[in-house]
Amino acid sequence: MSTLLPPPKEIAMLPVDWVEERSGAISFGKYMLFRNVPKDISWLQTLGSALITVFILQATTGIILAMYYQPTPETAWMTIQWITNEATLGWLVRGMHKWGSSVMVVLLFLHMGRTFLFGAYKYPREMTWITGAIIFILVMGMSFTGYLLVFDERAYWATIVGVNINGTAPILGPALSYILMVGPEIGTHTLSRFYSLHMLVLPSAIGGLIFLHMLLVVRLGVTSPPWSRMEPTERDV
Ligand code: HEM
Repeated sequence: MSTLLPPPKEIAMLPVDWVEERSGAISFGKYMLFRNVPKDISWLQTLGSALITVFILQATTGIILAMYYQPTPETAWMTIQWITNEATLGWLVRGMHKWGSSVMVVLLFLHMGRTFLFGAYKYPREMTWITGAIIFILVMGMSFTGYLLVFDERAYWATIVGVNINGTAPILGPALSYILMVGPEIGTHTLSRFYSLHMLVLPSAIGGLIFLHMLLVVRLGVTSPPWSRMEPTERDV
């Protein structure tokens, strides 16, 4: 019996073609994923991808933690204890988020060191470096705002020290520490402000900047190592 239906492969591709025709999302995805890299690329050039992976893990574990955490001085510490000791696999999710933050900072330093030593901050990649530097500052902001959320003695005093250090900055310092604390001392509003910065403002900004960083990386390609034996013309892929 003859059939008028197209082959199964074409049927399976219909939704993909539908999306591609209307948005160009598939060709954009291919542009970002399938690109040439220099022949003498090494593991050192995978640190950036490792950072993307850790960022996604931090976002995922952070979303799960936010489902249980309550940011008030009365409940913050208690809900964290509950997540660690009572919630199913809560200890694992919290542990991954806590250790993941340190891993991210270490990877950031290694990636920055790699790009610096390879001279990848020079023309034409200055904007890649600048977007990276802004991401670096924002990630430090994530560490600072996340630290208070545990709301134990250590978090409280470490934040006082951090806010006071910010306060010593010229001209903007006192205003900055007032904005961070929402008043003269740490309280309910400080915790909500840190929580909002930690889970909404800073991650969205970092996510957007990583996207921009990646657009630039794909557009400009990655740098060969300084010890490369390839001709400069071969390196520009
Ligand atoms: C979450 C933070 C970051 C992510 C996810 C990220 C991601 C990436 C990726 C995937 C690459 C291409 C592969 C590689 O070289 O590893 C790259 C390249 C680059 N990144 Fe980052 N990066 C981040 C932070 C930074 C920082 C803090 C700087 C510097 C201040 C920076 C500067 C650069 C430069 C200059 C390149 C081009 C490297 C080259 O041409 O060889 N990045 N980044």
